[in-house]
Amino acid sequence: MTAKQIVLQELPSDLDKSRLPEHVAVIMDGNGRWAKQRGLPRIMGHQRGVDALKDLLRCCRDWGIPALTAYAFSTENWGRPLEEVEFLMTLFERVLRRELREMMEENVKIRFIGDLSALPSSLREEIERSQQETAKNTGIQFTVATNYGGRQEILQACRAIARHVQEGTVSPEAIDESLFEQHLYTEGIPHPDLLIRTSGELRISNFLLWQMAYAEIYVTRTLWPDFDRVQFHQALKEYQDRDRRFGKV
Ligand code: FPP
Repeated sequence: MTAKQIVLQELPSDLDKSRLPEHVAVIMDGNGRWAKQRGLPRIMGHQRGVDALKDLLRCCRDWGIPALTAYAFSTENWGRPLEEVEFLMTLFERVLRRELREMMEENVKIRFIGDLSALPSSLREEIERSQQETAKNTGIQFTVATNYGGRQEILQACRAIARHVQEGTVSPEAIDESLFEQHLYTEGIPHPDLLIRTSGELRISNFLLWQMAYAEIYVTRTLWPDFDRVQFHQALKEYQDRDRRFGKV
């Protein structure tokens, strides 16, 4: 930790505790570029990205933000070189195995969202174990989007509801936002108030399409492995300076 980060162990005094986001979502972009800039293989960027994510999770806990969601692997990421995909799958598994005890100690509740059926079975087992063991934890809700796509999530919800209609347990008139949300992977988790994307790209890339309807978007040019508490503080300051109207005046 840098000296500046140590100072930031508590909520900075220029932030209003009563107006913090309840849920922060992050698109962790720029790992590959971070590595390239240093003449390292891309996978080193992902490796360092894990450290940045760990510290952000701790920071949310330290500063009183109850939910964090990270986009770890999109449905489109399968198109990357095979070695990189394999490295990422192994990395997820290794990190989960390594961090489970600490997550228990820190009262973290983890949930994976996405089509998990396509993941390697050893990773699926680790996911299942971490979700089960942390299920009763009452601290920060940590959601990891893996083989996740927002359109795919919406379609699977539509299919599930269509089945209920076909079986006669739901009438088409009863389909409202609340019923729809019960069929999303994020059921029970509040919508993100703030989306942070690193590396300067101005896109949401199929992430939480339904849930992001009123999220404030903050984009920084910082590459993900360099995203730290100083940057997060900056994002929260800008968030608190915004006027959230939710479509009203
Ligand atoms: C995007 O950067 C990053 C990813 C696709 C992977 C992110 C995953 C982690 C940081 C690991 C998280 C681990 C757990 C267990 C949740 P990029 O490769 O697209 O970077 P580039 O745009 O510079 O090429």
